[in-house]
Amino acid sequence: MSNQGKMDCGRRRLIVATAAVGGVGAVAALVPFVSSLLPSERAKAAGAPVEVDISKLEPGQMMTVEWRGKPVWIINRTKEMLDTLPKLADQVADPQSEKNQQPDYAKNETRSIKPELLVVVGICTHLGCSPSSKFKAGADEGMPGDWLGGFLCPCHGSTFDFAGRVYKAKPAPTNLEVPPHVYLSDARIMIGEDKKGA
Ligand code: FES
Repeated sequence: MSNQGKMDCGRRRLIVATAAVGGVGAVAALVPFVSSLLPSERAKAAGAPVEVDISKLEPGQMMTVEWRGKPVWIINRTKEMLDTLPKLADQVADPQSEKNQQPDYAKNETRSIKPELLVVVGICTHLGCSPSSKFKAGADEGMPGDWLGGFLCPCHGSTFDFAGRVYKAKPAPTNLEVPPHVYLSDARIMIGEDKKGA
């Protein structure tokens, strides 16, 4: 497991490095335009919201998009996935997500606006590794036999359920972060802001 952990941490660093290189190229190409922006406008562009088409995301599937250099996971949870959440209420550290780490609309059991759609930052809240998806229940993917599905951070073993809620007594101190987001329509999400047209 430790080798896998190193790989995942390395991959995360690679993604960050690649994003940084891409960022430099993008900035170079836009110099005439960017240099004409006021400092506050430049800051806004760096943290600009990202609009995502989720129309092709089938039940049980997950997609990853980048926002502010971070991977954001969007998961279309099946009924079976959602049915695992109440069963885990006494095994996760913060079942209703009451710690102040996400918007109010994520302070519930599913940690989401729409029950089936989860939007979380895919970075472990311990030391920032990228957790792996372990969607299959049971021991098939190297998890304990009573595993109901979710995510494993291979770096130090934190586990998260299908709502990104961390299990008790794990190194990660909090649930995975839910970023601000808003539905523009059934098929489109804006990540990075809460209000339509804000
Ligand atoms: S970084 Fe995830 S458990 Fe340590």
